[in-house]
Amino acid sequence: MKKSDIQDIRLASKGKNRIEWANRSMPVLDQIRKRFSKEKPLRGLRVSACLHVTTETANLMIALKAGGADCVLCASNPLSTQDDVAAALVKHFGIPVFAVKGENKKTYYRHLNQALNHKPHITMDDGADLVSEIHGKRKDLADHIVGSTEETTTGVIRLRSLEEKGLLLFPVLAVNDSKTKHFFDNRYGTGQSTVDGIIRATNILLAGAVFVVCGYGWCGRGLAQKARGLGAHVVVAEIDPLKALEAVMDGFQVMPLKKAVQIADVIVTVTGNTSVIREEHFRVMKDGAIIANSGHFNVEIDIPALKRLSKRVRPIRDFIEEFELPNGRKIHLIAEGRLVNLAAAEGHPASVMDMSFANQALGAEFLKQNNLTLEKKIYTLPEALDQNIASLKLKAMGVQIDRLTSEQVKYLASWELGT
Ligand code: ADE
Repeated sequence: MKKSDIQDIRLASKGKNRIEWANRSMPVLDQIRKRFSKEKPLRGLRVSACLHVTTETANLMIALKAGGADCVLCASNPLSTQDDVAAALVKHFGIPVFAVKGENKKTYYRHLNQALNHKPHITMDDGADLVSEIHGKRKDLADHIVGSTEETTTGVIRLRSLEEKGLLLFPVLAVNDSKTKHFFDNRYGTGQSTVDGIIRATNILLAGAVFVVCGYGWCGRGLAQKARGLGAHVVVAEIDPLKALEAVMDGFQVMPLKKAVQIADVIVTVTGNTSVIREEHFRVMKDGAIIANSGHFNVEIDIPALKRLSKRVRPIRDFIEEFELPNGRKIHLIAEGRLVNLAAAEGHPASVMDMSFANQALGAEFLKQNNLTLEKKIYTLPEALDQNIASLKLKAMGVQIDRLTSEQVKYLASWELGT
């Protein structure tokens, strides 16, 4: 068995069953896996992936291995690892994993570097930590690299900054930017799994609660919609006038965060930015407020400021710390401000990750096929592949759709026909 670092190999059989369960909701990825096992399009490629170690990710790794890739996996967040899945990948699928739920920052980076020691031809990131490490301390690896894929909005933003500065050392595929990724995973996935994490951690009733969503991107839109579906009174805080206007027209109340926190029962950040909830907000929060983050990094809530302000901090429930301010008010922080949907729940459901990871698998194939022509730039997957994933998903769901008639095709291609 190749070297790994996981919590407990005895958890493997539980993990194997859960991976199989997830696979039943991942028909598109499963089809790709079957084709990959016949065609072996990734033969000879070493892949280092830094993704949340979940049942869904396990199915992606299995598909890549079926395609001939030699894969290793490390975690893209210290709290999101499902230890039983890590054990199953090692024991039953022969895929080395470096990830332990609750690992500290030092171990997180050691694991990342162990994954990089695999000398990958392709890296897969969720948050751009592998690419960032390669561009910092591990530049020696860049020459072997055919390309990298990036799963999330935050990662794509970091990579664009590298690209704009002319520093990108190899091509990157922004998987996040496929329509079959962000329209679905970011919106429906984050929406449901964030609510799931909050409910599992707190067991609060959302009906009648004032629920503040910070940020009205695809994730924020999904979260606002799902919280409303459970009967919460949803308020949106936004800095972009267009998005704020959209939130208003979607029927949400929009106001500055400083006002919103004074009436909020729950406040969730999904912005991708830093210090969104900070001292000025903690000072005026309602007693008993619950705060959580569903953005990629744990910087959206200024936790050091909250600690400084508090006279007492104690764990009050699994995943929840209670901060008591000098004015006696209590603020409850879920999952240390890390991704609440992955730390306190299981992340997005398999059915939506099916499309995200179909994009990842086809993305790896695309990087290999186009190795010689791709430049040191950020690419998105070709529109035709995106459309194909949508068609396969619809088919798997048993949904049929109409086709254009030849008259309609002609009409759409004409400029002559008017009033
Ligand atoms: N990101 C969000 N949800 C996820 C999941 N279930 N697996 C992997 N990455 C995720």
